[in-house]
Amino acid sequence: MPELTIRNHSFSNYDSINLKHIHLALNVDFQKKTLKGKAVLNIENVSGCPYLILDTRQLEIDKVMLEDSSETAWSLGNQLSKEQSFLGRPLVISIGKNTSKVAVYYETQPDAAALMWLAPEQTLGGKHPFLFTQSQAILARTWVPCMDAPAVKFTYSADITCDPKYLPLMSAENNFKRNREGKYHFNMPQPVPSYLMALAVGNIEFRSLGDNCGVFAEPEMLDKAAREFSDLKRMIAGASELYGEYAWGRYDILVLPPSFPFGGMENPRLTFATPTIIAGDKSLVSLIAHELAHSWSGNLVTNHTWDDFWLNEGFTVYFEERIMEKLYGKAYSDMLSEISLEELRSTLEDLMKTAPGDTKLKLNLKDRDPDDGVSDIAYVKGCMFLRMLENAYGRKHWDAFLNGYFNHFRWKTVTTEQFIAYLEEHLVSKFPKIKVNYREWIYEIDLPGNCPQINSAELARVKKMAAEVNARKDVSLVDTAGFTTHHWMHLLRNLEPDSIKTGMKQMDSTYHLSASTNAEIQCDWYLLCIKNGYHEADPYIEKYLVSVGRRKFLIPLYEEFASTPEGLKKGRNIFFRAEDGYHAVSRNTIKKILRME
Ligand code: BES
Ligand code: ZN
Repeated sequence: MPELTIRNHSFSNYDSINLKHIHLALNVDFQKKTLKGKAVLNIENVSGCPYLILDTRQLEIDKVMLEDSSETAWSLGNQLSKEQSFLGRPLVISIGKNTSKVAVYYETQPDAAALMWLAPEQTLGGKHPFLFTQSQAILARTWVPCMDAPAVKFTYSADITCDPKYLPLMSAENNFKRNREGKYHFNMPQPVPSYLMALAVGNIEFRSLGDNCGVFAEPEMLDKAAREFSDLKRMIAGASELYGEYAWGRYDILVLPPSFPFGGMENPRLTFATPTIIAGDKSLVSLIAHELAHSWSGNLVTNHTWDDFWLNEGFTVYFEERIMEKLYGKAYSDMLSEISLEELRSTLEDLMKTAPGDTKLKLNLKDRDPDDGVSDIAYVKGCMFLRMLENAYGRKHWDAFLNGYFNHFRWKTVTTEQFIAYLEEHLVSKFPKIKVNYREWIYEIDLPGNCPQINSAELARVKKMAAEVNARKDVSLVDTAGFTTHHWMHLLRNLEPDSIKTGMKQMDSTYHLSASTNAEIQCDWYLLCIKNGYHEADPYIEKYLVSVGRRKFLIPLYEEFASTPEGLKKGRNIFFRAEDGYHAVSRNTIKKILRME
């Protein structure tokens, strides 16, 4: 047995062996809630290593075959070692110098962390089951035995069989029509890391939104989704004008049932999105700009380790804001940006008390679940750092630099240190008179003093109004003329719960906030309701928490419940009714908040 080491959250020996391609042949069984079949890995044994080591978790390995031998390969590791919570366990396969193909026969478990199997009641149509995967950060190993580290890029293909009633889709070249045999072939010709492998299966239909883009959804959602995303073609064109040609062929969106734990996931060619962004007025489509932006930052140029996560998300938030500015104007993008900056400030306030080290852009997630590194730091501090650089060098030089960066690292991965070296060579040293504190931004805690300010006139107006309401304790001073979703969010976040305690009912009957169907406004309003003990909203809050599985909305509400003993009881009761509809990612987070572990 080789000595087993864990590097960047992976057991795999990717330094010794190149993984070139994975071919999956899987059958989707909705009854048993399993994927069963094989993964055939094409490898190049560049170092003559006697072992191939793969990451697995919650997988039942049946057998391993080598192409150059008809005998079952020795695969001791998987049987001997115990699973290490989020890391799973290594599958050690003895191979020869010339082994180029290894087939792993396996089956997933019904509670595999990456897989969410939805019962018909959990879908919009209510008649058919649904399956979707979520592989980021290190959950791919729960449905594909692989080298589960972002540093490893490979092409993939798949033969998927399923009940012919349903349509399977992958983060690959997709089929748009169901076929009678329920047999589908997929091909992903561009190299991707394991966290971008994705599969969804359900009663899904397609609507085109242009020659290179469209939307998939349950039929009941298709019209609404197509209307909401009608600017998609312009968005792709705008993004390409900014930072280079779109590299992935098609760009489609799949709208998932509400239990999807994230807002969006940038699966290449096929962004997965929560239905909570479909507000009916396009007010939450910046999330699509975000996932689209990942087609450059993240999917083309990928963070080498999860410690470098800010290179994925910080660049993407920056890019997202540039897309929004280009399409909808600076006043609007500043509004979005200032709201994010306020969120960052409140995250910083918390983290500086509890985990100041986690406020650095470059993280240290050794021995920790990479999921712990997902916070506004990578996203918004990362974006503000890039905005600071833009301000220092001017947009013209900055954009030229970014184009060069995307071009230089395309199809590769990048570490924070490689980024710094590239920055020094292509920007810092070219303009020696301009001084920028990039090391402080990347390696120090908290927010540097030269964080750019964002001055949205619209939000300033709202903030002033909130201050008056707070001072005079009079909600009739609220004037919502010209309000959009983000005006509402800013207002609700700036009202002091105490000051409007007696005005809650008046607010609710004037603006129908409890009955709102805008998930962002609902979340902010319900938070005030819990804080103020405004119980008329209780049934609405419960309905929301039972129907929405997006972690970002669940966290603040359950945290508020958990802050008092009665609230905690109530929160737990709601959780018991809701948890079946939550993805494991959300469920685990909420369990921690409700102290149920
Ligand atoms: N790639 C992320 C989602 C993610 C990050 C999943 C880390 C698992 C681990 C995606 O691009 C994302 O950032 N989604 C955000 C939306 C965005 C607009 C900030 C989300 O889900 O809220
Ligand atoms: Zn993202």
